Amino acid sequence: ADFLHIGKKLTKWYDTNARQLPWRQNQLPYNIWISEIVLQQTQVKQGLGHYLRFIERFPTVKELHQASEDDVLLYWKGLGYYSRAINVHKAAHQIVEDFGGEFPNHYNDILKLKGVGKYTAAAIASICFDEKIPAVDGNFYRVLSRIFADDFDISSSKAFQHFSDLALLVMPDEKPGEFNQAIMDIGAEICRPKNPLCMFCPVNEDCMAFQTGRVSEFPVKTIK
Ligand code: ADE
Repeated sequence: ADFLHIGKKLTKWYDTNARQLPWRQNQLPYNIWISEIVLQQTQVKQGLGHYLRFIERFPTVKELHQASEDDVLLYWKGLGYYSRAINVHKAAHQIVEDFGGEFPNHYNDILKLKGVGKYTAAAIASICFDEKIPAVDGNFYRVLSRIFADDFDISSSKAFQHFSDLALLVMPDEKPGEFNQAIMDIGAEICRPKNPLCMFCPVNEDCMAFQTGRVSEFPVKTIK
């Protein structure tokens, strides 16, 4: 079956409906990286101010590399999960020492950075370097499981692979970063865990859960 039209609708929707966010004004890997780390355990609304202050104080890898850990921690104050700040500082040292000061430009190299997991590496690689890699997280599980009315258990250790494979069926070759960010926005604002706003969803006609009145059944998660 051909599911690519779903992904194309999602990126088209993104072109006119994307949230206007400061890290979306450019595709600089340093900026995207910092935004993704800030947003790992923090809501967009809460993370915005911290992101802007952090970028103002440490505009590039160079300033972050030259800073002391205490200074980096000071700018992380209030965000919590301080290991993120320590890792970001360590990663700046890796970029200088292992990558000659240039931000790594391939998924596999980005994944080597301290504090960068598969989701974050996929977000950076797709947004900044047009690599076709789905940025799969909990939001992604929810949106995709509903589109396909897929009852794969998201608490399974195999869920990541399962939904990554499914994502590649809908992900177009063009604009992978827009595709990933479309899913982020739709997951946050439309395809919400509770009270989803299906009437505003650009793919409601393609959504098997919506079409069969079963949106609330997905994603499936065994109690544990
Ligand atoms: N959450 C995580 N990454 C994000 C991004 N790039 N845009 C909006 N929300 C996000």
